[in-house]
Amino acid sequence: MIRSAIVPVAGLGTRLLPATKSQPKEMLPVARKPVVQYVVEELAANGIREILFVTGRNKSAIENHFDSDPALIQALNAACKHDLLRELEFERLGVHIFYTRQSEQKGLGDAILCGENFAGEQPFVVALGDSIIGLNAKSDCVARMVNFFEERKASCVVAVEEVPAEETHRYGIVQGVPEVDGFLRVSDVIEKPPPEQAPSRWAIAGRYVFSPLIFDMIRKVTPDAHGEIQLTDAIRLLCDEGRRVYACMLGKHERRYDIGNFPSYFEAFVEFALADPDYGPRLRQSLKRLLACE
Ligand code: G1P
Repeated sequence: MIRSAIVPVAGLGTRLLPATKSQPKEMLPVARKPVVQYVVEELAANGIREILFVTGRNKSAIENHFDSDPALIQALNAACKHDLLRELEFERLGVHIFYTRQSEQKGLGDAILCGENFAGEQPFVVALGDSIIGLNAKSDCVARMVNFFEERKASCVVAVEEVPAEETHRYGIVQGVPEVDGFLRVSDVIEKPPPEQAPSRWAIAGRYVFSPLIFDMIRKVTPDAHGEIQLTDAIRLLCDEGRRVYACMLGKHERRYDIGNFPSYFEAFVEFALADPDYGPRLRQSLKRLLACE
């Protein structure tokens, strides 16, 4: 049973300036909660008990968010604000959280390498800190990936979602053939290919399961034109070695919400806010009114 996950949160979030000038993009709220809380709740619900955040400068808000705040608890208790106290229950998900820093921006592969000592000899999950899987993070894709990884004695399982051809240049794209229902056997992966070079429309969607072998592959990767070590290139090396690499296809209700750019952040916020049991109906009415005036 895989119990550990590495969550890289070191990116600068430049695509979301000015919102991310002094706070991490992973702390941006999507309706009521910051993005990274959804990620941690999803991992906890999928059996993960230890999380390593790979952070960078300006990311201390993430540590503060997952640390308990006795003064706040005392103030809420004193004011009998029990409903608000319940909002802090995520602090007791039973997950141990650790932090390390990626001191230079050398890409996702390098960020994962920062977790080598944490993972040790055990397989582990990687969950990107700016991606939520499924509305309100209700997804068991990580548990499905972990089960498949163990059953097949795989070296890597990635989550994939189908994207339009014109968007392949934004993602790692897999080449594969159907293995069993919901899974592909992957023979190659390419980072951000233009549509004419994309081997499929299956895009890597921010969740991975790896054997520790990936660390050796990351060390072998040649940095790209921007000096970044791509995780996708390390997975490609696993494929080249003939290792068992699979892709788990996300289901219809497991959309990936990407908080890394404004258009998809706006969409995610509205969709999550509309699903809010208390305030969703009111927002729906006001959106209808606004749209009718267009
Ligand atoms: C990263 C990965 C890419 C993946 C994407 C979404 O890209 O390098 O392979 O498809 O996340 O999970 P980024 O969005 O950091 O540029």
